[in-house]
Amino acid sequence: MNQTVHFAGISGSLRKASYNTALLRTIRDELLPGDTTMELFSLQDIPLYNADFDTPEALNRPVEVQLLRKALEKADGLVIVSPEYNYGIPGLLKNAIDWASRGEDSPLLHKPVAVMGVTPGMWGTVRMQLAFHPIFQYLNMKPVYKPEVLVAQAKTKFDAEGKFKDAAARKLIGQQLQALKELVLQERAGKELSVG
Ligand code: FNR
Repeated sequence: MNQTVHFAGISGSLRKASYNTALLRTIRDELLPGDTTMELFSLQDIPLYNADFDTPEALNRPVEVQLLRKALEKADGLVIVSPEYNYGIPGLLKNAIDWASRGEDSPLLHKPVAVMGVTPGMWGTVRMQLAFHPIFQYLNMKPVYKPEVLVAQAKTKFDAEGKFKDAAARKLIGQQLQALKELVLQERAGKELSVG
């Protein structure tokens, strides 16, 4: 069985100096499991959801949405790194999930997914992360449940170049991504078995 795995990485913040995007970059550059690649996809240009344009006919969906869906299709697993806004999922991230969620060809269906988040506050985005679980359930996604990665007090956890440097959290992130990779390989082995 092919052991190489590809992740798509999405940040829930568009801010240039975003802690969450900085963590996603550190993951891509330093914390992936072996034989794993990750491409980041920016949600910067995703328009607001409109079901009138969310139909499968060629070229009906906005081009940026088509690119998002392609990037997710290409990925074996999804890594979401996001702030918590008002105890929930940032609107721009929920908006992108909605665009990717419809149709039998939705690239989110059955997709293994890991979610984590960074906040300058004390509670590590726990409420944002919990808010994802009904979405994972509706889309029959395969979330990594443990370990959870909740990064609080962000100001002390990055160096001057924006690299995430908290050793304990880096270890947990490595474990979470290894668990995501294992979910991908399990899915792949299951598909090979069912194909015979
Ligand atoms: C926040 N912030 C915030 N923090 C938190 O821990 N829980 C929350 O519910 C909220 N709510 C919230 C709403 C809105 C609209 C904003 C703009 C901010 C603070 C947030 O964690 C902080 O701005 C982070 O730095 C945002 O993440 P990035 O942009 O650094 O990745």
